[in-house]
Amino acid sequence: MPHARITGVGYYAPENIVTNADLEAVMGTSDQWIRERTGIEQRHWFTRGTDTNANMAAKAAKMAMERAAVLPSEIDMIVYATITPDYFFPGSAFLMQRELGMEGITVFDIRQQCSGFIYALAVADNFIKTGMKRNVLVVGSELQSTLMDKDPASRAFGVIFADGAGAVVVQATEDPDHRILSTHLFADGTHAEELYVRDPGSSRYDRFISEELLQNGDFRLTFNGKAVFKHAVVRFSEAIQVALDANGYAPADLSLLVPHQANIRISEYVRDQLGLRDDQVFNNIQHYGNTTAASIPIAMGEAWEQGLIKDGDLLCLAAFGSGFTWASALIRW
Ligand code: UT7
Repeated sequence: MPHARITGVGYYAPENIVTNADLEAVMGTSDQWIRERTGIEQRHWFTRGTDTNANMAAKAAKMAMERAAVLPSEIDMIVYATITPDYFFPGSAFLMQRELGMEGITVFDIRQQCSGFIYALAVADNFIKTGMKRNVLVVGSELQSTLMDKDPASRAFGVIFADGAGAVVVQATEDPDHRILSTHLFADGTHAEELYVRDPGSSRYDRFISEELLQNGDFRLTFNGKAVFKHAVVRFSEAIQVALDANGYAPADLSLLVPHQANIRISEYVRDQLGLRDDQVFNNIQHYGNTTAASIPIAMGEAWEQGLIKDGDLLCLAAFGSGFTWASALIRW
């Protein structure tokens, strides 16, 4: 049975950088509050007419393919994680496919919020292990800044969420020493409304877009930050421990944990719960904010460039988010 190996990682963020100071003026917030509560110092937000969900992803995917030394013509599947696609349908995977000239292959979006990238990676891993595919692009891309009003009523989430894309190339290999060791996926819909955008939904009104919807619709992101935080710290640690146990490892064996970049305090809490050293946990939320499905591949890209992910390293990815969903992957790089 073939194994699946990550052979290249790339990422992209819009050129427009928005600092905490920029938000002070419009959101009734402060640089100090944002840094202390989240760790964020700046984020990237799209420029209308320049950035789209799919073209950011295409830039990330090109970088990943170059680093993997794989041609677009060799890719046989795209698994694309996003909750902010360019169209209501079809998914952004189709638009990125078109931009990269990959007609005819298998492509699809998956919508699993902050755990989306790990869910997508698990899909790729299993398609490769069963022999159905050999060279897969796994993407996480989000354009979230358009979901948020830039006003004080939106400050609780408006300072956090941001735009960007990341991608990895996953390829079939016979080498048991460099591969995805396991993936672990979990969900609990009991908490669906703790972090969600309700409208436009398909079932609340007689017509999808109607006067009634425009009058009464709830388009604002609804976010019970405290409840999400409490669940996140428990589920993150559980997911990591499950991955380590499944492969006979302990936290001390980890070379690097790359958590979904939700909040620096969550990363620190998880680090302490697992007894990890600071240098075993990678954070870059300071520069990107929370980019949902894109945060892990962006972080992997930066960690790899900084020489923090090396041949033979034991790497753990972990995420928690809306749904609730939580997930982990253990990788021998
Ligand atoms: O990626 C998916 C997973 N996401 C997460 O895991 C996020 C989990 N949650 C969090 O990270 C935190 O709950 C937040 C960062 C979202 C919020 O931090 P918090 O410590 O839970 O703050 P809070 O919501 O309890 O608000 C504390 C105070 C409130 O004022 P009062 O009632 O104490 O007077 C808020 O109105 O901070 C106020 N506040 C703000 N002040 C300045 C809320 N947002 C802001 C803001 N700037 N942006």
